[in-house]
Amino acid sequence: ADALKIGVAGLGTVGASLVRILQQRGNALAVACGRAIEIKAVSARDRTRGRGVDVSGIEWFDDPVTLAAEADIDVFIELIGGASGPADLSVRQALSRGIHVVTANKALLARCGVELALLAEEKGVLLNYEAAVAGGIPVIKTMRESLTGNSFSRVYGIMNGTCNYILTRMEKENLTFDACLKEAQRLGYAEADPTFDIEGNDTAHKLAILTTLAFGNQISADDIYLEGISNITIEDIQAAADLGYRIKLLGVAQKTETGVEQRVHPTMVPQDSVIAQVDGVTNAVAIESDILGELLMVGPGAGGNATASAVLGDVTDIAKSRPGEQKVPAFGRPAHLLEPYRQAE
Ligand code: HSE
Repeated sequence: ADALKIGVAGLGTVGASLVRILQQRGNALAVACGRAIEIKAVSARDRTRGRGVDVSGIEWFDDPVTLAAEADIDVFIELIGGASGPADLSVRQALSRGIHVVTANKALLARCGVELALLAEEKGVLLNYEAAVAGGIPVIKTMRESLTGNSFSRVYGIMNGTCNYILTRMEKENLTFDACLKEAQRLGYAEADPTFDIEGNDTAHKLAILTTLAFGNQISADDIYLEGISNITIEDIQAAADLGYRIKLLGVAQKTETGVEQRVHPTMVPQDSVIAQVDGVTNAVAIESDILGELLMVGPGAGGNATASAVLGDVTDIAKSRPGEQKVPAFGRPAHLLEPYRQAE
């Protein structure tokens, strides 16, 4: 089969990891997929910046929208970030051209994911976004494909690596909030604007996506009760520990009689619970459904390689699919069948 031609927009922590992995694992990936994956084009803001990857033989674009419009590609991979602007414009451009899209952009999906899914379905292409929620944990595929037929009652968990890293190090090493945040930024865990991490917006974006997968409603990130961790002090953490608890930033979505309840806030969890043991950048997502029961997935929630691993899974899924084959809808059912969001009273 012909090589799958991809364009990578954004060469930050995740983009650079992805390019490096594709270059190093080319042969093994070709065997696994039955065809090679070829990086045809890349784009980033600053061509001169050192990234530790060699992109010299690859067509370069300064502008992702031009890449999406003009490059000879089968898949557009959006790793730019941001709920609007170039990420949004380039994804729409690619979908309109009938090109598959893989994105890690939870903020974009939380704002207009249903609209993008409708466009993808109209064009008969895939919109894959495993990396958008809980980093490397394959939670989207699990909910969308492995648990088909289950009825979901609750989804909750630790979905922001930066916050969990900060809370863990404050508790275990008695470091200040600011020192821990700086370290999370240095390690490539935090968002470009880390306010989104520490004020809970990033968790809310991810939760809104999982809510749609679980309950089949349109995405609604604006209705989420939101409280971040920026006011948590070492004294709070110690007081919780004295009572037998640890503080975790949780996102929780559940179905009630009247609608869906979604909230994000620091939560005291019993020290002996599994979720309390989840430390550092690790994330955990608990999924409660009627046929399976409770599933808990724990794994790396942020960082270049963990996130690139999820992006790579999305790309190889496309490489393995055959033209004309039935497509998996982005949110587990055709986007026009998603129901209006109804908030619990
Ligand atoms: N800033 C995010 C986090 C990156 O810390 O979890 C992964 O989405």
